[in-house]
Order: sequence, then structure tokens, then C-alpha cells
Amino acid sequence: MTKRDDSHLPKALQGLRIPMVASPLFIISVPDLVIAQCKAGIVGSFPALNAREAEGEPPLLEAWLTQITEELDRHNQANPDRPAAPFAVNQIVHRSNTRLDRDLEICTRHKVPIWITSLGARVEVNEAAHSCGGIVLHDIINNTFARKAIEKGADGLIAVAAGAGGHAGQQSPFALIREIRSWFDGPLLLSGAIATGEALLAARALGADLGYMGSPFIATREANAQQGYKDMIASSGAEDIVTSSLFTGVSGNYLKPSITAAGMDADNLPDADASSMNFSSGSSKPKAWKEIWGAGQGIGAVQAVTDVPTLVDRVEREYIAAGKRLAAEFAD
Ligand SMILES: Cc1cc2nc3c(=O)[nH]c(=O)nc-3n(C[C@H](O)[C@H](O)[C@H](O)COP(=O)(O)O)c2cc1C
Repeated sequence: MTKRDDSHLPKALQGLRIPMVASPLFIISVPDLVIAQCKAGIVGSFPALNAREAEGEPPLLEAWLTQITEELDRHNQANPDRPAAPFAVNQIVHRSNTRLDRDLEICTRHKVPIWITSLGARVEVNEAAHSCGGIVLHDIINNTFARKAIEKGADGLIAVAAGAGGHAGQQSPFALIREIRSWFDGPLLLSGAIATGEALLAARALGADLGYMGSPFIATREANAQQGYKDMIASSGAEDIVTSSLFTGVSGNYLKPSITAAGMDADNLPDADASSMNFSSGSSKPKAWKEIWGAGQGIGAVQAVTDVPTLVDRVEREYIAAGKRLAAEFAD
């Protein structure tokens, strides 16, 4: 444990084992992964759109929320000395997400403690979260979007910097955090290639309250991903990540070997049109590109497929060791 003062943060973000939120990953984040993340002491999360029932069946999101809440309650009763961290649900706030209103209603009823919103800041979404005691963290890629998100009522920001998996930003984390911190003193998370405890400490040194880590969780046993995808994360590094807008209409980071395996020239991909973004089926990526796999630049730190507790243990060990090493430099 470190002596971190997190009393300025909302309750839901206090008392974490390390200052980290596991980011929501399309398809990959399922209840097993979320529960393991929360039990390991960090905030676990999933996109609401991952819970997809067949036509005519009751909403799977409802069942997932019940499962996660009950399992974490059981864990907390059995382990009062090391309770699980709270969980977060990600809402894609894009006009093509036709499930948004229904999902907001379900999440409000289940009193979801942390709401992560992407692709559009909307007052009604923030109000829904606040109506059940939840907080909203909105992800942004620049200072303009950051200001808009706070104006619309988000409680905190996730700064998605260059090198992140999924729809990455283009700005250096050094620049982005500095610009946001010049006017915003609320909860601030940094996303983008954080895959080690050293990177997490660096995020804190920059002024972020917490790190936001995604890609390393793909290479865990609890993740809902094909074994080939997990193995590719473990065997690839930053040079294997290609940035392209072709697959979803907006710029994102992908594993080069998966593009090559699909028969495309990863070094010469054409651009796509942003208007092709459509989340009505959960992803804006057409089915033909199902095996084009996303990842951020930090995966060089992932050497093997492990389980979630092993991954979080490693990050914690590195975080503490790096903190002690630097603290020694500044001791009187
Ligand atoms: C395969 C994949 C799927 C993702 N899906 C989502 C998603 O559904 N919603 C979302 O807000 N972010 C999504 N992201 C972005 C992550 O939430 C996060 O910003 C990113 O993973 C952080 O960078 P890192 O992977 O380098 O740690 C995804 C990222 C990846 C790699």
C-alpha cells in the first residue's frame, strides 16, 4: 500500500489498491473480466453494448449488472478487509446507438456507480447517472472536448492520448494533461499505452489522478478474446501498431499482424469516411473486419497471457518500486 491522498476524489474512486481504472473494451470486457478487475482492487468496466441478447430475449445488460453486483457483494462480505473496487459501465453516446435510452434506464435502476461516456457529451446522460448517485467520466482527445464535457455536466475526464488502443487521440500526454490541468482540478484519468507501474506513476507525476489501462487486459484468461488475439498481444510491441481510419471511419490503433493475416497491406491502408461510423450493431467495424484486432502501443510490456490478479500484482509491484526509486532522489 502507498500513502496516497485520494480524499479529493469522488467516493467511487477512493481507496483503490492502485490508482487505476480498467478501460471498457468492445466484445472483450464481459462480467468475468470486470469481476476479476474489481476483486483485484481496481475499477473494472464494460461497454453496455457488449451485452447483446438475441431478438425477443430479456435485456442481457440487466442480467450482467445483477451478476456483477451480486458477485462483488458476496466477495465484500467474505473479504471485509480487502473489498472489491466499484465497477463502471461505458455508454457510446453516438446518434447511431439506438439502445442508449433503454441502457440508461437499466443502468439508473441498477444504480451503476461509475459511468464512462464516449463519442458525445450529453446533459441527459449525465443527469441519468447523477439521479442514481453515479459519477460520469467522459473520454476526450483534446482540451476543447474536455471543456465541452465539463460544461455538459460530466464529473471527470479521461484524457485519451497518443498510443492508446481503440480510437486513440493524437496528442502527447505531456501536452494534453498540462492543458486540462490548467483549468480543471476534478478527477482526471490518463489513457494511452499505460501498461506498467512505471507508466502509471508517470501519469500521476503529470497530474492525472488515475491511469486508464486497456490493451494489457486483452491478454488475460478472463478476457473474451480469441487465443490468437491474446497471443498476438503478448508477442507484439509498439512497432506492430498501425494507426488507420479504414476500419471504423475514425482513426484507431490496430495490430499489424492481424491486418496482414487478413490479406491487406498494413503499410498502405486507404483512409475511410467518418460518416461511416455506425454503432447500431454494437461496433462501427463491419463484420468482414472482425479479425482486425485493436491494441495500443504499450503492449511491449505484456510478455505472456496471464490472469487478471497476476497482471494487477505486476503493475502494483512496478508502481511501488518506481515510486520508491524516485522518492529516494528527493529525500532530504
Ligand atoms: C480492442 C479495444 C476495444 C475498445 N473498445 C472500447 C469501447 O467499447 N468503448 C470505449 O470507450 N473505449 C474502448 N476502447 C478504448 C479503451 O477504452 C482505452 O481508451 C484504451 O484501451 C486505452 O489505451 P491502451 O489500450 O493503450 O491501454 C477500446 C480499446 C481497444 C484496444
